[in-house]
Amino acid sequence: MVKNTSNISTEPYKGVRDFYPEDLAVQNYIFSIWKKVVESFGYNEYNASVLEPSDLYKAKTSEEIVNEQTYTFTDRGDREVTLRPEMTPTVARMIASRKRELGFPARWYSIPNVFRYERPQRGRLREHWQLNADVFGIAGTEADVETIKLAYNIMKAFGADDSHFEIKINSRKLLNAIFNSWYELDENQAQAFQRLLDKKSKLPEEVFYGEVEKVIGKPLEFLNLSHQNPTYEQAMAMPDIREAKLELDSIVEQLKSFGISNVSYDENIIRGFDYYTGTVFEVFDTDPANNRSLFGGGRYDNLLSIFGGESLPAFGFGMGDVTIRDFLETHELLPSYVSTTDIMICIMDESSRSYADKVADELRADGKKVSVNYSYRPVVDQIKSARKQSIPYFIVIGEEESLKKTYDIKQVNQHE
Ligand code: HAM
Repeated sequence: MVKNTSNISTEPYKGVRDFYPEDLAVQNYIFSIWKKVVESFGYNEYNASVLEPSDLYKAKTSEEIVNEQTYTFTDRGDREVTLRPEMTPTVARMIASRKRELGFPARWYSIPNVFRYERPQRGRLREHWQLNADVFGIAGTEADVETIKLAYNIMKAFGADDSHFEIKINSRKLLNAIFNSWYELDENQAQAFQRLLDKKSKLPEEVFYGEVEKVIGKPLEFLNLSHQNPTYEQAMAMPDIREAKLELDSIVEQLKSFGISNVSYDENIIRGFDYYTGTVFEVFDTDPANNRSLFGGGRYDNLLSIFGGESLPAFGFGMGDVTIRDFLETHELLPSYVSTTDIMICIMDESSRSYADKVADELRADGKKVSVNYSYRPVVDQIKSARKQSIPYFIVIGEEESLKKTYDIKQVNQHE
C-alpha cells in the first residue's frame, strides 16, 4: 500500500537526533576539543564502516546487554549484519589484521557514530557519537596512567575544573583476585557475581545482597579493599589480591603526582563488557542535577586473541557526545552559537545585484564567509534573517553603493 505522503512525520526516528546548524555547531565544538587533545598525545585518526558482520559481537567480546541492544539484520546475500554498537571490536579487528606491519605502541582515535537499541532517556539515545582513544602495545601501568591523564586533560580543555567531575577507578584483576582467593568462586559464579555488581546501583539494596548471597553461597563480607575494612590485612596477605591492589594504588598515586586530585578507588566501578582485564575507570559529573557517569574505559589485554593471533595489551576509553553535552550545559561551559557565515549581503533592489555579487566574491577571495540574500525584501527583514541565523555582520548594497562602488560592514544586533 502506498502511504499518504502528506502525513509523513517531521520527527526523526525514535532515539536519534537531527542536527540543526546550532546543534551541529555544538557537536563540532566537542569534536574539535577531542581532536586537539588526543592529537597532542600522539593519537592518529582511523575510521571504519558502521556495518560489521554480526559475528564480531558474538565472539564473547560484548556484554549480554549490548548483544540485546544491537541493530542486526540479514542482508540480500543472507549475511547477518550489525550496526556497530561500540568501536572496540572494530579497532581490535583492524589492529589484529595489520599487526605485523604496524609500529607499536600505536595510539589511535576515532569519533564514530554507534547504535544501541536502548530506551531513550536523558544521556541515553539510540545513536550517539563516541570518541574512542585506544593505545596498543603497552603492558605496564604507563598506559593506564597516560590514558586517564588524557581523559582528564579533555575535561580540562572543555573548561571544567576538578570539582565538576570525579574519576573513579577499579581493577578487574583485583575483583578477580577477590572472587578467586577470598570468595573461592568458580568461573560461572564469578561471572554471575560480576554481572550483579554491574547492576548494583539499579537494584534495591536488599535484592542485591540477597542475590549475591545466592551466587556466592554466603553473605557478602566485603568488596571495598580499604583500611576501614576489618578484613583488610587478611585479604592483603593473599598474594594476588595484594599485587592487584598495590598496582591500583600506584596508578592513583602516579595520577596524583601529575596534579590530578579528583581520582579515587571505587569498588563499585565494574563496567559491563567482558573484555576488560585490568584497570577500569569511569568519570562522573559531581553536579547533583546531572549526577551520572559521563564516560569510561579500561584495559583489555586479551581481545585481539579472538582473531586467532596472539593477544596484545590495550587500553582505551569511549566518551559519548550526549553525556558530554549534558555536562557542558549543566556547568554552563558551552560557547554561545555563532554562524560559520561571517557576513550577509542584503540587496535593496535587483539592479544592485551585480555589484553585490562582486563584493561577495572579493570578500570570499579575502577568506571571508559570505552569503547573499537574494530576497529583495525590505532591508529590515533581511537583517532579521541574518539575526535568526546568528550571522554576526551584514552589508547593505543599494543604488548608491553600486554607483560609488563602496560599502560598509555593520554588526548585526543579535538581541533586537
Ligand atoms: P561504554 O561505557 O558502553 O563503553 O560507552 C562509552 C560511553 O559512550 C558512555 O560512557 C557514554 O558516554 C556513551 N554512551 C554509551 N551508550 C550510550 C547511549 N545509548 N547514548 C548516549 N551515549 C552513550 C564502550 O563503548 C567501550 N567500547 C569504550 C572503550 C573503548 N573501552 C576501551 N576502549
